[in-house]
Amino acid sequence: MKISRSGCLVLSFILMCGLAPEVAADVEEAADGLSTTQEPIWLTDIPATEELIKAAEVAIIGFFQDLEIPIVSIFRSMAQQFRDISFGISNSSEVLAHYNITRNSICLFRLVDNGQLHLDAADIESLDAAKLSRFIQMHSLRWVTEYSPMIAAGLFNTMVQTHLLLIMNKASPEYEESMQRYREAAKLFQGQILFVLVDSGRGENRKVVAYFQLKESQLPALAIYETVEDKWDTLPVTEVTVEKVQDFCHGFLKGTLLRDHKAEEDADARKEEL
Ligand SMILES: *[C@@H]1O[C@H](CO)[C@@H](O)[C@H](O)[C@H]1NC(C)=O
Ligand SMILES: *[C@@H]1O[C@H](CO)[C@@H](O)[C@H](O)[C@H]1NC(C)=O
Repeated sequence: MKISRSGCLVLSFILMCGLAPEVAADVEEAADGLSTTQEPIWLTDIPATEELIKAAEVAIIGFFQDLEIPIVSIFRSMAQQFRDISFGISNSSEVLAHYNITRNSICLFRLVDNGQLHLDAADIESLDAAKLSRFIQMHSLRWVTEYSPMIAAGLFNTMVQTHLLLIMNKASPEYEESMQRYREAAKLFQGQILFVLVDSGRGENRKVVAYFQLKESQLPALAIYETVEDKWDTLPVTEVTVEKVQDFCHGFLKGTLLRDHKAEEDADARKEEL
């Protein structure tokens, strides 16, 4: 029990280390290349709001009773920064009542785990652009989320405790097709397994590859882990197919491990590497 817990902590540490510099870089990247403006969609009724939430992998809605408070303009600026997220804004009493909002609130809705995260009035009062941006980056999980130290913190903050990684170089010629199939498989495990892509072409991701004791020559590979019991397994794949991913996931969920590894020994070895 004790060992599992420390193993899990080691994993979260590896996945999250280097957090601060990464965050700064992401924000700068997003702030560059702004050509057209993106404004939150004005939501005046319930069907429009439901439609926005249903259609987007990640939707963020500001429910405001008062549009004059400072957070409203900060919220609008987020729509500029996160171009691939759907932003909505509403002050309709009908819409707010439907979503049980009694005070100003910012809510993030995502499909992958049917997750809903709320920042309510108390959080909002102390919120600035940097904090809101970090909240969005951390919790914007997709059907397939690309791994970053920031997202790692969000991955450990969901109800879904099994995570699958595809560790692959994004520059490889098979990447596009593999991703398409991986994404297709992800939808079959909604709310059950979170699908993550780790770009092995990025030097800083080497520690993730090392954690799962994979060699460069074994990539691309699938790695799956369970955060509570610290179980994990890997499968090198020459080609990603929906069936292969499905079989691997079903096997893991049923408790079949392909690899024979002892958690204690691994944890010790990994600590030494750190
Ligand atoms: C919502 O905002 C609009 C524009 O500022 C305003 O005209 C309207 O009265 C507001 N509605 C409510 C219910 O406060
Ligand atoms: C609002 O609250 C009620 C009662 O707790 C609940 O049944 C309903 O599902 C909630 N609505 C939404 C949109 O979450």
